[in-house]
Amino acid sequence: MSNQHPAVGYYPLVRMRRMRRDPFSRRLMREHRLTTDDLIYPMFVLPGDDRREAVESMPGVERLSVDLLLGELESVVELGIPAITLFPVIPEDRKSDKAEEAYNPEGLVPSAIRAIKEQFPDLGVITDVALDPYTSHGQDGLIDDDGYVVNDATIDVLVRQSLCHAEAGADILAPSDMMDGRVGQMREALEAADYHNVRILSYAAKYASSYYGPFRDAVGSAGNLGGGGKHSYQMDPANGDEALREVALDLEEGADMIMIKPGLPYLDVVRRVKDTFGAPTFVYQVSGEYAMLMAAARNGWLDEKSCALEALVSMKRAGADGILTYFAKRAAMWLRETE
Ligand code: PBG
Repeated sequence: MSNQHPAVGYYPLVRMRRMRRDPFSRRLMREHRLTTDDLIYPMFVLPGDDRREAVESMPGVERLSVDLLLGELESVVELGIPAITLFPVIPEDRKSDKAEEAYNPEGLVPSAIRAIKEQFPDLGVITDVALDPYTSHGQDGLIDDDGYVVNDATIDVLVRQSLCHAEAGADILAPSDMMDGRVGQMREALEAADYHNVRILSYAAKYASSYYGPFRDAVGSAGNLGGGGKHSYQMDPANGDEALREVALDLEEGADMIMIKPGLPYLDVVRRVKDTFGAPTFVYQVSGEYAMLMAAARNGWLDEKSCALEALVSMKRAGADGILTYFAKRAAMWLRETE
C-alpha cells in the first residue's frame, strides 16, 4: 500500500477502474446486451396504394400504404427484427361514434395482416386492440352522453375487433385501451373460436402520458380528441403500486405478455413488474421519447445513435424482455455494424 495515499476502505486493493481499463474487460463484465431479438417495430399504415407520408413530429418515421409497407418489410425481415406492430390511419369518413370500422373484415388492418402474412409468414404481426383510430371522438372506447368512456360496452367491440384480427392472421393482439376485464373477455372469445395460439400482449400498465402526442398526430386522432384526456382509464403517472395490481389482473385473465408504457420515465415500474411476476415483460419507448431524442439529434445537441442505444439498453437493464421502438430498424443496423 502506498504511503502517499493512505487506504480508505479497500482502496487501492479494490480499484473499480481496473476492469474498465480495456475494451476486452469491459466486454467481459457487461451485464446486459441489446440485441435485434429484443426489438418490435411499430409501423403506421395508410389506406390506398403507393402512399408515403412523413410524420412531422417523428423525423424518420413514415406512414405507408400496404404495398409500400411490404417493401419496407423486406429490410425489416432481412435485419432479423422478430415482430412489428401495426397502427392504422383511418379516414375520417370511416370513423363513427360506435367504431364499427374496428371490426370490418375488409378494413385496413385485416387487409394489411393478410398481405403481410402471405409474404412474410415468419414475421410476428402484432395488432393494437383499441378504438381510438376508429372513433369520431378519438377516445379508446364508446362514450356516453357525458363523454365518459363506458367500460363493458367497449369490451364487446374490442372482442369483435380481436376476433377480426385473429381471423385475418394476427399472431399477437395488444389491447392498449385500459378497459377493466378486457383481457379475460378477449381470451375467452379467442378460445371459443379455436384461436388457442393467438397471444395477448396487454398494455397492462399504460399511463395517461403526454408523451403520446406525436403518435396522435401520426394516426390523426389528436384533432378528434380535442381537449379530452384519457385520465378516466389510463393510469396516473404518480402511481407505482397500482401498476402491479393491473399487471396481476391481466396475467390472471390470461395475458401471455405484459407491457409498461411509456418507457424511460417508467423504468422503476418495469423493474418492479419484472421482479414481482417474472412474466414476459415489454416496454414501449413511445413517440414522445423518440421525438425528444430526434429533435435534439437534428439540432446537433445529442448524438442520435449513442443516445438511442443507451436509452434502449437501459430498458433491458430495468428488466424488459423486449422493446417497442421507432428506432427498431436503425438500432438493428447499428447492432449489425458493431458485431
Ligand atoms: C392507442 C395507442 C396510443 C399509443 C399506442 N396505442 C396512444 C394513446 O393512448 O393515446 C401511443 C404510442 C406512442 O406514443 O408511441 N390506444
